[in-house]
Amino acid sequence: MDYLYCPDLKNRVVQMLPFTTLLSIDKESPQPIYLQIANNVVNIIREGQIKPGTMLPGTRELAKLLNIHRKTVIAAYDELYAQSWIDVIPRKGAMIAQNLPDLKPQRWNEPRLSSYGEFLTVPFYPMDTQTPVSSAPVLRLPEFIIDEGYPDSRLAPLDLLNREYRNRAKQAAARKWLPGTLAGGSPLLREALVSYLLESRGLNIQTQHTMVTHGAQMSIYIAASLLLQAGDHVIVGDPSYFLANKVFEKLGARLIKVPVDAHGMDMDAVEQACKKHKVNVLYVIPHHHHPTTVTLSPERRMRLLELSRRFDFAIIEDDYDYEFHYSSAPYLPLASGQHEGRVIYIGSFSKSIASSVRIGFMIAPADFIRQAIQLRLMIDLRGDHILEDALAVLIQNGDVGRYLKKANKAYFDRLNNICTSLQELKGIIDFERPSGGMAIWARFNKDYPLAKVADAAAAKGLYISRGFQSHGNLRDGNSIRMGFAAMNIGEMNAAIEILSKVLKAKI
Ligand SMILES: Cc1ncc(COP(=O)(O)O)c(C=O)c1O
Repeated sequence: MDYLYCPDLKNRVVQMLPFTTLLSIDKESPQPIYLQIANNVVNIIREGQIKPGTMLPGTRELAKLLNIHRKTVIAAYDELYAQSWIDVIPRKGAMIAQNLPDLKPQRWNEPRLSSYGEFLTVPFYPMDTQTPVSSAPVLRLPEFIIDEGYPDSRLAPLDLLNREYRNRAKQAAARKWLPGTLAGGSPLLREALVSYLLESRGLNIQTQHTMVTHGAQMSIYIAASLLLQAGDHVIVGDPSYFLANKVFEKLGARLIKVPVDAHGMDMDAVEQACKKHKVNVLYVIPHHHHPTTVTLSPERRMRLLELSRRFDFAIIEDDYDYEFHYSSAPYLPLASGQHEGRVIYIGSFSKSIASSVRIGFMIAPADFIRQAIQLRLMIDLRGDHILEDALAVLIQNGDVGRYLKKANKAYFDRLNNICTSLQELKGIIDFERPSGGMAIWARFNKDYPLAKVADAAAAKGLYISRGFQSHGNLRDGNSIRMGFAAMNIGEMNAAIEILSKVLKAKI
């Protein structure tokens, strides 16, 4: 035990706990020292090593004991006081509070083994239960993952984004108030989007035409909710992005599925559908269609705009995968053409930077955006506006542009590599080389059922999709998107080697 002369306590010599050990400080830790002290004090109170009513050493004494500045001890005591762990007794010092803040809730009912079971016992409106589950729960993370087409976040400027985020989080914490409603997104990012979308895809817009959402998915949901009611008709590709279809179905809309071939949606079929039904919305994925990766040809783009004028329907243009092109320059979006306010344009940084960056956007006429913001407020008051601000800075200072150039080059090499590897599996896997994007649409021979292939691959440390959920309305479920961007060439070669072994062994 330390004994200490303590003037704060009327010159008494008090028996001291071994504070130097109990409050050990790690000067290398990123956590500030005052917080380390405060947290350590809380821990020793919780462990019962120090009881309510015990006096803590004076700030000078503790500073001396721990060999730190007195101001740091004062900050630690301030923190403990703010959290109600200590009381300050005038002219005496800091005392462990008699009523500790760690209150446990009082029981008012009979204890049960578990508070929740499987079922809600009152009726509710369930989601479609027909959706097959794509795979068994993952018990062990596989060594290699062939995903659906995600970016390689190791190439992305995430360190810069984090640094900007940290600085802005500190400023925001100091400010303690938010400038008006942020449900449409951070003003800085909305502003940055205006110039970014003009430069990258010829969109001539102003801030009031922009809205930032939590990924493209939220934009699809909001746009569809404002455009469709039960019984309305929406044209989608066959196949199409299954989570967009689910949104339309949830709203009670009737889906009209038109074929998708090597040039995208079949516009003759669109015209036929419009002659037969009052069509309210057409949902299109113009670049690297999900799941087949085909790109809508310029002729069909013009025809689609003409049909939307003639039959007066809205177009939801989901351009989730615009950024990565390898063989030619991308086509400008429908939204940059003469559409007279009929196109709702949707994009996402979750696909171009990292899937964890949940920032998407919607571009639409100003009145639609105002309504969209009202709707978003009902489910989400605002996104992560600090992250949105940070991203805006990276867009404006060119970091995002530089990264995209680098990623395009790396993904081009990765695409070449996977195409060469898959050639060796011809007959088992059929595919066409996509002009861009991050995935190959791989059609497996029927003798190699994907569910079995995926299980056998999983046993060897490789995850691939079992070919179900993601391609909802495919007649032939034995196809998957093979993402080639997220793994480097060495990793992909190792993954394909496992896949080859699985395919060449008897399944
Ligand atoms: C075609 C398509 N649209 C939209 C989304 C949703 O994107 P986000 O992750 O930005 O919500 C996805 C996600 O995979 C997609 O494939």
